[in-house]
Amino acid sequence: MNITLKPISQPDGRSELSGTAAGCIAVGIHEGGVLTQEARSLDAEGAITLAVESGDISGKTGSTLMLRQPPGVSAQRVLLVGLGKSGSLGEKAFRSGVRDALHCFSKIGARDAVLALPFEQVEGRDLHWALRHVVQAVHDMDYRPDSLKSEKDARPAGIRDLVLPLTPTDAARQTLAQAEAMAKGSIYARELGDLPPNICTPTYLVGRAQALAQEYGFGLQVLGPKEMAELKMHSFLAVAGGSEEQPALAVLQHRGGETGDAPIVLVGKGLTFDSGGISLKPGASMDEMKYDMCGAAAVLGVFRALGELNLPLNVIGMIAVCENMPSGRAVKPGDIVTSMSGLSIEVLNTDAEGRLVLCDALSYAARFKPRALIDIATLTGACVVALGHHNSGLFTRADAPHEELAADLLQAGRETGDPAWRMPLDDVYAEQLKSNFADLANIGSPGGGAVVAAAFLERFTRGQLWAHLDIAGTAWRTGKDKGATGRPVPMLTHYLCTRAGGQST
Ligand code: BES
Ligand code: MN
Ligand code: ZN
Repeated sequence: MNITLKPISQPDGRSELSGTAAGCIAVGIHEGGVLTQEARSLDAEGAITLAVESGDISGKTGSTLMLRQPPGVSAQRVLLVGLGKSGSLGEKAFRSGVRDALHCFSKIGARDAVLALPFEQVEGRDLHWALRHVVQAVHDMDYRPDSLKSEKDARPAGIRDLVLPLTPTDAARQTLAQAEAMAKGSIYARELGDLPPNICTPTYLVGRAQALAQEYGFGLQVLGPKEMAELKMHSFLAVAGGSEEQPALAVLQHRGGETGDAPIVLVGKGLTFDSGGISLKPGASMDEMKYDMCGAAAVLGVFRALGELNLPLNVIGMIAVCENMPSGRAVKPGDIVTSMSGLSIEVLNTDAEGRLVLCDALSYAARFKPRALIDIATLTGACVVALGHHNSGLFTRADAPHEELAADLLQAGRETGDPAWRMPLDDVYAEQLKSNFADLANIGSPGGGAVVAAAFLERFTRGQLWAHLDIAGTAWRTGKDKGATGRPVPMLTHYLCTRAGGQST
């Protein structure tokens, strides 16, 4: 769908909405028959008031009513959308209004529509937030994970062109472009996440990184098992050992900044399937471990957005890809491996494999002398227990530069509806990782599993400005709506946009 900004007010302040020829115009209605300003501007001949007084629409969120050719309006249809109580428009009511309007748009015969909701009146939010939200909602609604179904799910035939009645200021146009790129990137991450693990293998993901590099002119370097062995990444290699699939560390480089400017480095966990290995997972929901590559998918999604926007920034995206499988060559509980950093690790549970892969990838990242190093991983079930499916877990150290990094990421999450929650990371948690036989163990004594996993990664990122995002609860939905979410592509893309400057907040 094509989204454009078009101002509707004439210089004298009179609304042009009633004279706008469109297949449909959606306007908001509050409970108690209170019309929004946009609805009032279409009500010169009382058609909307009449409809509201008839009791056909309550104005509650979730209520909608389609009027065909109401008098005094040039558009073929006017869609009334309930926005809940009048007075203040909350984020939730606004989001529900957008969702309902888009849903109705998808079911009508019109080819173009105007979404005339009170974008600038959402409590605690600005126009830019509203724009980002609408664009993401449009893209998310269009997405169907049916590439492998013989009969495709019904696709909305209707609206091709969506007009947002807003003045196209430079700031609004920039936000729209950024929101489109962000949404494209997150849909790309959803597609990758939803692919089955027999298709989305490590080789396949590297292929997608190659395709992105070609399309946007990114630099790309791919380390295979041989190069990884030369670098002494024996922790990463141990995880990959049980699989027939070759592991890889792919490094994408976007050189949008000045040569010599320190890059922001993103590292994504890319387990295309996590069976648990010898510490095999129980069978129920094991299929969902195809989503254990969602950190890598997010990195590729962010790079799609970066390519679209060509941000003036140096960014490196690393994806650490392999499978965790049981076999005669698989790493066993009790094995001790030596990581690239030189630290030896006692593998007490082969299902705590993400940290074994990431520690070597993070050690490798140090050579780029990052301005900030951020890893993204579906790392622990414990993070889902702690935070549920709403917030990603954010872990950083507590000194001033890390506090600033955390604040920037949290803010980017809030502004894109892709929130994270700061978790603790004190030294005490690392004590749980003590081993009698190696420098550290890959699991700790019970309790605080998400923090202990972060404490493990912390040991491999000393001297770096580093943050860890545990997206185990936010990268996909389970149950009836099972599917990847594309998170945290919006948060990270927005973070990069603000780093590049020129982001209208
Ligand atoms: N990929 C999983 C984490 C995960 C599990 C994410 C379930 C979402 C849902 C990770 O590799 C893992 O298995 N972690 C273990 C760690 C444990 C053995 C210390 C876990 O969380 O159970
Ligand atoms: Mn695991
Ligand atoms: Zn895993």
